[in-house]
Amino acid sequence: MVKICCIGAGYVGGPTMAVIALKCPKIEVAVVDISVPRIKAWNSDQLPIYEPGLDEVVKQCRGKNLFFSTEVEKHVSEADIVFVSVNTPTKTRGLGAGKAADLTYWESAARMIADVSKSDKIVVEKSTVPVKTAEAIEKILTHNSKGINFQILSNPEFLAEGTAIKDLFKPDRVLIGGRETPEGLKAVKALKDVYAHWVPEENILTTNLWSAELSKLAANAFLAQRISSVNAMSALCEATGADVSQVSYAVGTDSRIGPKFLNASVGFGGSCFQKDILNLVYICECNGLPEVAEYWKQVIKINDYQKTRFVNRVVASMFNTVANKKVAILGFAFKKDTGDTRETPAIDVCKGLLGDKARLSIYDPQVTEDQIQRDLTMNKFDWDHPLHLQPMSPTTVKQVSVVWDAYEATKDAHAVCILTEWDEFKTLDFQKIYDNMQKPAFIFDGRNIINMDKLREIGFIMYSIGKPLDAWLKDMPAVA
Ligand code: NAI
Repeated sequence: MVKICCIGAGYVGGPTMAVIALKCPKIEVAVVDISVPRIKAWNSDQLPIYEPGLDEVVKQCRGKNLFFSTEVEKHVSEADIVFVSVNTPTKTRGLGAGKAADLTYWESAARMIADVSKSDKIVVEKSTVPVKTAEAIEKILTHNSKGINFQILSNPEFLAEGTAIKDLFKPDRVLIGGRETPEGLKAVKALKDVYAHWVPEENILTTNLWSAELSKLAANAFLAQRISSVNAMSALCEATGADVSQVSYAVGTDSRIGPKFLNASVGFGGSCFQKDILNLVYICECNGLPEVAEYWKQVIKINDYQKTRFVNRVVASMFNTVANKKVAILGFAFKKDTGDTRETPAIDVCKGLLGDKARLSIYDPQVTEDQIQRDLTMNKFDWDHPLHLQPMSPTTVKQVSVVWDAYEATKDAHAVCILTEWDEFKTLDFQKIYDNMQKPAFIFDGRNIINMDKLREIGFIMYSIGKPLDAWLKDMPAVA
């Protein structure tokens, strides 16, 4: 029986391995992590991450051919294929701080693999890593190998949070990069055979190691670039009276462009886009390509601009001050159908409003109070470290309350900001919300999910990203 071990039981390691176990009943899959609470949660009824469909997959195979364990070394030493899916945060100190990927966790995983291995292994990079990481890992493994043969493969993950199970069941493509030697090709085939249990052969692409590593960074940069492009247009739409939804529809019907990822919003978030672009920028700089680096940097600059612009709109519309005013925040996760708040635009928007002394009442169907308080007090990039190394949340932000109901959040509020596109927000009783708010009552829709005309009829003053402005807002320019 082939044995797989995955180091890192996070958003990628957990769902990916659960699907491999489901689709390959003859393969034994162990997912290991240094975080005891995380593994405990994977073994309980309350999984550590929320993903539609994940519970069912885990329930079907846990205890049969899928195991979650903290016995990292034991499972690694027994495995034929070791996936590494640990954190690769942005460095906060030293060379490349604020840009380069911090490979501390990756390196320590690699050294441990070398230490405990007694048989030949295929080591698979699942984490997103800088180009040429495989070469570094290969060096660590071969210099400590005691005669054991290691083959390194790059198999970046393209799943999107919120649709992870759907994406894993039917991936657009699986990408496997390996050495073009006989041993390398054999290893690529072994991993291909795993995916071939459910992915059509023509959707499994094989490349050399560096192309696979770079493709992941490139794919994320292209996706984020589309969002920043439409967000840049949204600012122009507001200035000219065009409607960004109409513009993006017209643009997206061009088959060369396509309609996906063209929704204007308060900005992109998530654990990957910013981190991976910063990493790409750093790699370009290190390779003497400052113009290319500058080009990709703009994608992040526009994203920051969009968040600042949103905060400025809120403050400017409300007579240039939100001090002591209650502002309801609907949605904190970086997108719907996930509880993940890493790099969510809600953090920057909330911090911006708190900077102007607002009182915030936050509701998100999947994010806990503890998580929100942590996010609002944590330093940039601290979130991307294993849980036990993250700072506890020593202080709480007093002007923030977290409630479990949208009506409670909006009661007596001066304004509502919609920051995540949860479906339930579309069907709220806005007449009831209006009746219970202070007047004038404002709604700032950062996701363009509610019908502006209906809300205007009720009496709200509305702002929706990239849409023609209310007369009220026109008189109050808010330039970031
Ligand atoms: P995560 O933070 O949810 O999970 C990483 C896990 O690795 C943590 O539970 C941590 O405790 C564990 N870990 C760290 N060092 C370890 C060690 N030495 N031994 C055992 N366990 C260790 O991170 P996530 O989101 O799963 O991301 C992992 C990688 O996958 C990152 O490189 C990320 O960029 C990439 N990725 C993430 C995607 C996403 O949507 N979250 C999508 C595609 C790639």
